[in-house]
Amino acid sequence: MQKLAAIILAAGQGTRMKSAIPKVLHPMAGRPLIYYAVRAALDAGASDVVVVVGRGAEEVERYLVATFGKTVRTASQTEQRGTGHATLMAMPALGNVETTLVLYADTPLLEVSDLKALATALEGHPDASLALITCVLEDPTGYGRVLRDDAGRVTAIREHRDLRTEKERAITEVNPGVYAARVPFLRDALSQLTPNNAQNELYLTDVVEAAGKKAGAIALPAAATSLAGVNDRAQLAMAEAVMHRRIAERWARSGVTVHGDPRIDETVELAPDVTLHSGVELRGSTTIKTGASIDTGSVITDAVIEAGAVILPYSVITSSRVGPRARIGPFAHLRPESDIGEEAHVGNFVETKKTVMHARSKANHLAYLGDGEVGEASNVGAGTIFCNYDGFQKQKTTLGRGVFIGSDSQLVAPVTIGDGAYVATGATVTHDVPPDALAIGRARQENKPGYAAKLRAKLAARAKPKK
Ligand code: UD1
Ligand code: CA
Repeated sequence: MQKLAAIILAAGQGTRMKSAIPKVLHPMAGRPLIYYAVRAALDAGASDVVVVVGRGAEEVERYLVATFGKTVRTASQTEQRGTGHATLMAMPALGNVETTLVLYADTPLLEVSDLKALATALEGHPDASLALITCVLEDPTGYGRVLRDDAGRVTAIREHRDLRTEKERAITEVNPGVYAARVPFLRDALSQLTPNNAQNELYLTDVVEAAGKKAGAIALPAAATSLAGVNDRAQLAMAEAVMHRRIAERWARSGVTVHGDPRIDETVELAPDVTLHSGVELRGSTTIKTGASIDTGSVITDAVIEAGAVILPYSVITSSRVGPRARIGPFAHLRPESDIGEEAHVGNFVETKKTVMHARSKANHLAYLGDGEVGEASNVGAGTIFCNYDGFQKQKTTLGRGVFIGSDSQLVAPVTIGDGAYVATGATVTHDVPPDALAIGRARQENKPGYAAKLRAKLAARAKPKK
């Protein structure tokens, strides 16, 4: 195939988003909207990608450089005078190429195969100056309509606001805004645009009419689902739902068992034989290794879940690692920098933060383990608290191997419990416990025979209504 460029228009105001954030930076399945058009252009083989930036130019540019490095360049459009004007701004930045794709940054569901088909169509028709995708929509509101002559050739695109006749209004074939054009033709056609329309803008769509007057524009019909434009947040939500379904399907085809409707960010990595249940959310740079299972309602962000680990329902895991065959939840909360070892257990209503739990250690019920280390095969009883914060500083709690912490204990950091030590139930531990020692830290119990009956009588007398 010939060398291919791509121009991506991302300078618009995005007024309909009603947002302080530039439209193209709104997140969709874990990536800003603009990512998808750029990715599709690169995957279609574009070696020269120019993004036209305007609204929020600096931020958009920073994102593009951080994500795509030098493979993507930008051109600026300081005044938003329309899609034709924006394309014009990109032309000086284009390298020496015969053909360029022109895409809008707000069409995130684009299929690479459609872009390739466009470029190939133009290559196969040396006389044609432009190829565009079209699709048929039940409700074409807002889209430019495709006008054809009696022979069925595309003659022009008419913007929704510029529709003139009933016949034009009845057209359901629309312009999704995906084009391939010969560069010399495009330069020439753009230079002749006039703002002779309802929005007083230079419309890129008018180059279709220019192409029609020459050798013609090639129209490629495609499926509407991948061509939706995102102009407001209702459309963003719909596009994201499609993207989530697509991502889940892609993983299902590569060996992941998918129950129901998990929401998986585009950035997530999954291994074969992972199982995902419905309502699961996998976000950011999360990686899940083979055989791990993530049950209903769990939300996992920027975490690594090692092979064979089991995450039970409604667990929340953030910036942490869960070791091989470990078991988490239900209802566990692993906060940043938790590192749960091989075959360790973190049960219901246990919260960890910046805590390492070594292999086969357990905290099965109701605990807060902050800034700690739990040695191999140690057991932390129900209701245990690592008291890590004095209002000024965080301090560390360290448990050796084979330690047993009785239920309802408070370990006041900084404190170290030696290997094999035993902390009795209900202890408040304020200083270190040597290896193999027993620490008891609670008031002695005293029983007073018959006192309960006496107390009851006294209280009943006091409660009698006065006459
Ligand atoms: C555009 C098309 C319409 C098509 C629809 C498909 C035109 C005139 N109309 O309409 O035929 O059916 O897309 O989704 O092209 N932009 C700039 N600079 C500007 C104006 C826009 O860079 O001055 C960028 C925007 O950031 C956006 C893209 O161009 O990414 C499209 O602009 P938008 O205003 O959304 O066009 P539509 O009204 O959707
Ligand atoms: Ca649009």
